[in-house]
Amino acid sequence: MAKKANDKMERLVSLCKRRGYIFQSSEVYGGLNSCWDYGPLGSELKRNIKTFWWEAMTNRRDDVEGLDAAILMHPEVWKTSGHVAEFTDPLVDCKTCKSRFRADELANPDKCPVCGNETLTMPRQFNLMFKTFMGPVEDDSAVVYLRPETAQGIYVNFLNVKNSSRQKIPFGIAQIGKAFRNEITPGNFIFRTREFEQMEMQYFIHPSEDEKWFEYWKEQRWNWYLELGIKPEKIRWHEHGADELAHYAKKAFDIEYEFPFGWKELEGVHNRTDFDLSRHQAATGKDMGYVDERFSEKFIPFIIETSAGCDRTLLTVLVDAYEEDPSRGDKSTVLKLSPKVAPIKAAVFPLVKKDGMPEIAEKIYQGLKERFKVFYDAGGSIGRRYARMDEAGCPFCITIDGQTKEDETVTIRDRDSMEQTRYKIGELVEYLTGRIYRES
Ligand code: GAP
Repeated sequence: MAKKANDKMERLVSLCKRRGYIFQSSEVYGGLNSCWDYGPLGSELKRNIKTFWWEAMTNRRDDVEGLDAAILMHPEVWKTSGHVAEFTDPLVDCKTCKSRFRADELANPDKCPVCGNETLTMPRQFNLMFKTFMGPVEDDSAVVYLRPETAQGIYVNFLNVKNSSRQKIPFGIAQIGKAFRNEITPGNFIFRTREFEQMEMQYFIHPSEDEKWFEYWKEQRWNWYLELGIKPEKIRWHEHGADELAHYAKKAFDIEYEFPFGWKELEGVHNRTDFDLSRHQAATGKDMGYVDERFSEKFIPFIIETSAGCDRTLLTVLVDAYEEDPSRGDKSTVLKLSPKVAPIKAAVFPLVKKDGMPEIAEKIYQGLKERFKVFYDAGGSIGRRYARMDEAGCPFCITIDGQTKEDETVTIRDRDSMEQTRYKIGELVEYLTGRIYRES
């Protein structure tokens, strides 16, 4: 079973490279461990996922504002937030084979899982933040950190956003951006990496309403994955026990996905209480208290956080969409991506390179390109071209054939059902718009 799961991941990783979804970083230099680059299809898919999140979390709401804060922040932020003291994992080394592990992930804390020797060191706390220096002098006063979460950029801008947007509580601030963690055990392709992107939203509320808003955001986030097309039976909730809670959290639930390598965290919904704003108020002397005509007393807002990993969502989307279907012939792989996020929305093919078909196909392609990411392909047998698009996750293939000249119709092949239906050329935009953006 474990081998089958590994095989599936291996085949997915190989498809990602072959089709230009994801490449190993600096591959020509032998690669850099746990760092990955998104290729032509991958970067498009990632952008679509981010847009899908941004639209759901900000554009379609009146109560959430966007933010794009800097990766480098004042180093005091990370002392105040507790990350300098507490953002650690327990690290153990094997004195024999020099392998490194997270102590909390070892099945047997006395035995090295690689060489089998009982030569593990005692665990020591290892801080996950990357450090660098700002300016030309590399001394302690110049240390800055690459942010390990985007959330702090939101907290330190709470007053700026509140005052400039004139939002009233409850309201939220959403942000998408890079985060960095010097993970001890990165792995499982892009699941756990040292550089990744987060999609986070912090919702500022009255403390008495924390349960209500926690449940509300749990439901919103669950539904977002369903709208993204993730199979409902593949996701579940996991509540953090007292030993799992992050230093800032009163309550936390993860949405988990069943990857080939097991059920793993996809996103966290956290009740961070007034922990962060109170600490920033104490450290800076800036008043983070909130008052308006509806409340009798001034209070520090509680925060309900929704924190998703963009790369992890992308991996989920790929794993969930990946199917091997022998009925499709020798190239049997298909990525059943939701049309909403599929990198290529439609492909345009002339059936053959003669009888005026390429000219009509080119014209259709140029017209559709104004609205959708489309792909033109005139090379190889039509079966091959369909198979290439199945593997790239393209939901619709439009073929111009002998009948097109007679009645201005083309066929649209649906990737998932493989059915072909004739449509008028003039109906294509409306058809595609409906299938891509309106279907859930
Ligand atoms: N601000 C809260 C926070 O950062 P987290 O549970 O540590 O919470 C949130 O991270 C999400 O960020 C995770 O659910 C995951 O999707 C993503 N994430 C965290 N560490 C990651 C890593 N090393 N590689 C890829 N994604 C990661």
